[in-house]
Amino acid sequence: MMTANEIRDSFKKFFESKGHTIVPSAPMVIKDDPTLMFTNAGMNQWKDIILGTREPEPRRRADTQKCLRVSGKHNDLEEVGHDTYHHTMFEMLGNWSFGDYFKEGAIDYAWEYLVDVLKLNPADLYVTVFEGSEEEGLTRDDEAASYWAKHVPADHIINGNKHDNFWEMGDTGPCGPCSEIHLDSRTPEEKAKVPGRELVNKDDPQVIEIWNIVFMQYERKANGSLVPLPMHVIDTGMGFERLVRAMQGKHSNYDTDVFQPIIKEEEAITGMKYGEKEETDVAMRVCADHLRAVAFSIADGQLPSNAKAGYVIRRILRRAVRYAYTFLGQKEGFLYKLIPVLTREMGEAFPELKAQHDLILHVIKEEEDSFLRTLEKGINMLNSAMDELKKQGKTELDGVQAFRLFDTYGFPLDLTELICRENGFTVAADEFDAEMQKQKERARNAAAVENSDWVILREGEQQFVGYDFTEYECHILRYRKVTQKKNTYFE
Ligand code: SER
Repeated sequence: MMTANEIRDSFKKFFESKGHTIVPSAPMVIKDDPTLMFTNAGMNQWKDIILGTREPEPRRRADTQKCLRVSGKHNDLEEVGHDTYHHTMFEMLGNWSFGDYFKEGAIDYAWEYLVDVLKLNPADLYVTVFEGSEEEGLTRDDEAASYWAKHVPADHIINGNKHDNFWEMGDTGPCGPCSEIHLDSRTPEEKAKVPGRELVNKDDPQVIEIWNIVFMQYERKANGSLVPLPMHVIDTGMGFERLVRAMQGKHSNYDTDVFQPIIKEEEAITGMKYGEKEETDVAMRVCADHLRAVAFSIADGQLPSNAKAGYVIRRILRRAVRYAYTFLGQKEGFLYKLIPVLTREMGEAFPELKAQHDLILHVIKEEEDSFLRTLEKGINMLNSAMDELKKQGKTELDGVQAFRLFDTYGFPLDLTELICRENGFTVAADEFDAEMQKQKERARNAAAVENSDWVILREGEQQFVGYDFTEYECHILRYRKVTQKKNTYFE
């Protein structure tokens, strides 16, 4: 059986043998693009080349890219841990052609790699093609379908709509029709009952997309129009963790050697077993997943904080802390203890983990310690609030309480929502936002400083005499009254 590290290497080797330059992953944290906080697709770092404003050479490239999908157009956070194949941070294996090969070449390479090199069974593979969209004025991608027909029987080619088969980076930017490759990993009995083609894109955990091949042809402008790109571009993204699962014959990404070493460590620390109880399993998966997102983010220079990208990371980390606290019985820092295993397993492929090991460990420990100081009180408050609501026959937590949890106990809104959801409650998010707004107003007013005019007592020059004297008789030349945060003082 190939290990995860061997599979990653084999992808690079295959595309290298096809004339691709192997390039390193771009950082997961993006500092210079106002439309994105985190890399959410392998193509992000090539956006300018795709739009024609940067040199395209070398025109064939391949890599594994660290991606994070927790905000914006591509957001998988709610699924993570509850299912077995979505992640916050994941690796995307990609090959690119900037004005070199196009649909036929990309389809042929993908097929050769999966079937000839990795020996996946073609009978388990289904492919999708864009069915067209009247609204966009686009017809079916017959061209891609004709190339697929060289490799797979007609009943393994499935039409997909704009949602699944027209890939867009965000509200604006490069986009185009795409073909996905799905893998059916059900048992032979299940396959005999329901053909895999009926389960493609239907959220079946055993029939999942493994590779997306995007035929970049357009740029989406802010007014919604599609403008042809200066050249045709191939952008492919294969879910590394899903591929490893396929290659290792597992039914869950967490059963592969990408996650098992971390889960084993979780078992060792908690004394609990993975695979015995659903809520323990979810918590172990959440922690194993979130740990990677937070560690890689810190390695790339984004520390948890109270604003923007930093707050996204803090929210992920606090979500994990709460799972560990409630379901794994961890009343003290836990995630930071998993860092040595993560570094051991992934440090070869991503040397930044090794280089930043101590920083990552300390930052996570600090964050855990600080949240754990208020977590229990917050959970108690939330539990009593829910009990009270239950008595009143209500199922919605008001925004004032949700805001108190945020402001006093450090509960991100999505964490409060998560706990509420687990107990059959919703949260009045609009009211929460209104409270947040009020808080900002208060802070603005509190920060305002009011100065009265100077009162001049004497004419004269200020002088510093501290180098020569420790005591000195002096006179106040002028003073004024300053009012800030309701405090008044004189300066
Ligand atoms: N950009 C596509 C995706 O992210 C293929 O790489 O799925």
